[in-house]
Amino acid sequence: MGINAIEKALWQASNKPADAKRLREDAHAYLKEFRIDEEERWLLAAWDVRGLIDRGVHPMIIMMAFAAVNGPFAAAGYQDRVHETESFFPGRFAGKVAVVTGAAQGIGLEVARRLGQEGASVVIADVAQGPTSQAIEFLQRMGIAAVGATGDLSTAAGAEAAMACAHDAFGGLDILVNNVGGAIWMKPFWYFSEDEIRAEVDRTLWPTLWCCRAVIEHFRARGGGVIVNIGSNAASDGVYRIPYSACKGAVVSLTRSLAVELASLNIRVNCVSPGGTNALARKTPRGKSEADEQETQWMNQFVKLVGKEELLSKYATAREQASVIAFLASSEASHITGEVLETGRRGLRISEELGFVP
Ligand SMILES: NC(=O)c1ccc[n+]([C@@H]2O[C@H](COP(=O)([O-])OP(=O)(O)OC[C@H]3O[C@@H](n4cnc5c(N)ncnc54)[C@H](O)[C@@H]3O)[C@@H](O)[C@H]2O)c1
Repeated sequence: MGINAIEKALWQASNKPADAKRLREDAHAYLKEFRIDEEERWLLAAWDVRGLIDRGVHPMIIMMAFAAVNGPFAAAGYQDRVHETESFFPGRFAGKVAVVTGAAQGIGLEVARRLGQEGASVVIADVAQGPTSQAIEFLQRMGIAAVGATGDLSTAAGAEAAMACAHDAFGGLDILVNNVGGAIWMKPFWYFSEDEIRAEVDRTLWPTLWCCRAVIEHFRARGGGVIVNIGSNAASDGVYRIPYSACKGAVVSLTRSLAVELASLNIRVNCVSPGGTNALARKTPRGKSEADEQETQWMNQFVKLVGKEELLSKYATAREQASVIAFLASSEASHITGEVLETGRRGLRISEELGFVP
């Protein structure tokens, strides 16, 4: 398979996960033809695209490496990082201190990287110790001032400790991105046990609620601040994820109401509600066990449904989500509070299938 054919196939794979296995094998075979030294291996492991490009590694090789390691689904999602590594605003967050929760991987890590590259000092607050250390190393190698606050944010004490860590490391804080969350199980509501529902709430509601409360005293001491909560379009139509949907609905209510309460303290509160987002393979999985056959079937049904409903007919990239989150966290959004910004809207879609093409 030639390089152009692989590139085309990788792009198409973002909407056809069924081809994933074959493409991954092709990517492995392709990578073998290239010699990559130790430093480049490290940069690949840290997904440091800028570093790789600076060393003259061809973008296609980087993309193939993503495909080989994480599967073409993720590689296709990383196409824009590979091709547009310069498209951010230097200095936008100079002098600011940001706490990003759940930032050891996924959307959170991309947000931490974006805020850090644009000048912020960053605290990664996450429960996963190993991935947090790796993320800190990744950010520090890019020249970003970053520290980790490892702890469980589903408790009030964990949230308070994370904010205190930011204060101790950088003397105060200005931005809080509440990113911890994510559906653990996907199945009809009546199949959820009591323990599972509690686990979903622990993961998707408590960390945001506790962190919002814990940050207020720090923002007051600073004379203001910004909170960006991460919701989900599942808040309004979360098929097979009812406990998660309920939590994300609560995140929306929290955002709107807290914005009212805190406006006079010069604290803005907004929410970004993503739809399906491509990210690299998770270092920390959401569930404790592998999905069984029935759960996999429900998951596939859900993915198919979302694929049909997304207006832009594709998953977003983590970078696209980070762009919107960074905008709301920045002074460019200084007159916006209490808003919920949906990225990945679903709904009525004109398609060729319906014989309805403008
Ligand atoms: N990925 C998507 O397709 C998608 C779509 C819509 C909304 N979202 C939302 O975006 C956010 C990020 O999603 P993701 O897929 O990048 O997340 P992820 O599951 O890949 O990572 C979540 C991180 O949170 C950490 N974490 C979990 N529980 C924690 C706790 N109690 N205390 C501290 N840290 C904890 C994990 O260790 C992990 O590093 C979530 O709020 C999710 O609901 C994601």
